[in-house]
Amino acid sequence: FNLPPPPAFPALQACLGFSILTFVGSLVAVPAVSAALMAKGIQGRDLLKPGGRVSGPMIPECLGLPIACLYILLMMLFIPFPFSHMFNSGRKGQIEKSVGRECFPTSELTLYLSSLLSLMVATLLGFIDDLFDIRWRHKLPIPLIAAIPTLVVYYSEGGLTSVVLPKGVGRWIETLGWGGWVGSKVIDLGPLYYIYLLLLPTFTTNSINILAGVNGVECIQALIIAASVLLNDLLFLPLWPRWLLVALGGIGDPDAGKILAFAGGEMVQRHLMSAYFMGPMVGVCAGFLWHNWYPAKAFPGDTFCYFTGMAFSAVALQGHFSKTLILFFVPQIFNFILSCPQLFHLVECPRHRLPHYETGTNLLHPSRVIFAKRPAAHTRLVLSVLEILGLVRLERAAESPSPSTSEGSVERAWTAQKGDIVSSTNLTILNFLLVRLGPMREDTLCSVMGGVQVGCSALAFWVRYGLGAWVYGG
Ligand code: UD1
Ligand code: MG
Repeated sequence: FNLPPPPAFPALQACLGFSILTFVGSLVAVPAVSAALMAKGIQGRDLLKPGGRVSGPMIPECLGLPIACLYILLMMLFIPFPFSHMFNSGRKGQIEKSVGRECFPTSELTLYLSSLLSLMVATLLGFIDDLFDIRWRHKLPIPLIAAIPTLVVYYSEGGLTSVVLPKGVGRWIETLGWGGWVGSKVIDLGPLYYIYLLLLPTFTTNSINILAGVNGVECIQALIIAASVLLNDLLFLPLWPRWLLVALGGIGDPDAGKILAFAGGEMVQRHLMSAYFMGPMVGVCAGFLWHNWYPAKAFPGDTFCYFTGMAFSAVALQGHFSKTLILFFVPQIFNFILSCPQLFHLVECPRHRLPHYETGTNLLHPSRVIFAKRPAAHTRLVLSVLEILGLVRLERAAESPSPSTSEGSVERAWTAQKGDIVSSTNLTILNFLLVRLGPMREDTLCSVMGGVQVGCSALAFWVRYGLGAWVYGG
């Protein structure tokens, strides 16, 4: 009788199994470890519940640690699977190398191991941050250093440092007489590209951490980004009918579909590697979301944010799709840019910028920063521009002193003149959503944020395969 053909991608099937394991594992591990963390005092108040800062419920914090450990250990167990074909018929790398036949793909193994190394450093950094609340100036350089192993591996692989120029720009540059330095289609950024790659992990780790504070919100971001990266990886594998891929690309230019449909050798390998990391990441995030969803029984802590953020930049570096990854981070980029005036102390930045909880109605309102002194001219300018763009709601002094709003009463330490800006909503995407859409429950806000993330991912796919082909093709 005929045996069924062997699976085309045996390791991909194993990856599915490992993803189910990480899902079930984090479902089980989180409640199992919670009591031990609470006993060690690793806990935080759920600030957006009755009692808030003073007597809100105590929730175990830093649950990112057990799930990161679970993930890293399972990823170590997974190492033999992508190379399983090499274990047949005694294909030992060194011996084969000497006779010039197929040898062990050590470069892929190095990529895999360097990614694991970066993930471990990120987990360590997150855990230290959870325990000691380290300062920004101390925590910023750590992801930079953690990225070095992956970058050196990137270099050793003959890493690309050029970017494709949009249609027409190349020709325009040539007419300016710079054609020798810039190719007609690509521009080589050289060391600048490495600086960008070095900054990528710093951005992905911190951007998830500052879009936080509402039950489930860190986790839902990571889950949707992981699922988007996984979907993007799967598109490159020869699993789909060609017409589907051509149709996907055909939104802008059928060539994009053809790129996917005919993606060959190295490209397939790179996306396969990324899928091995992202499948279990989807599992771990989905399992954790179960416990982190409103009302949260566990907090992710900084460990979770750093660990997931580093995983995304590691796969993007090893898969050579860092620009596509950036497209999946549009909500985080928006939140970061909006946060800049507070992060760089142009506008006062309180310790917590999460929304304001109103006990009677159980609704969240935008939280406010109340100025301790009259804002400087440049601060007033920035805030006024943000107000015109509809990104913040400002409060100006009226003739009657100390106006009070539903978002907390304003008590000023200085005497404001009529028209002075006395308070502003905090500059985060969560507060922005509350300013635009009105007060809502904590779980609704988390779902809205998830919806924004899904919408941005859909847009990212369109930009990458539709608009991208149109802008860069031809
Ligand atoms: C970042 C944000 C901060 C936000 C905090 C919330 C910046 C610059 N920093 O700080 O504005 O308030 O995250 O995570 O944007 N918590 C809840 N509910 C949740 C999750 C967390 O109440 O669903 C509270 C708990 O008290 C928990 C604390 O937030 O203990 C965790 O804060 P931490 O992660 O240490 O804050 P940062 O990352 O420094
Ligand atoms: Mg945090």
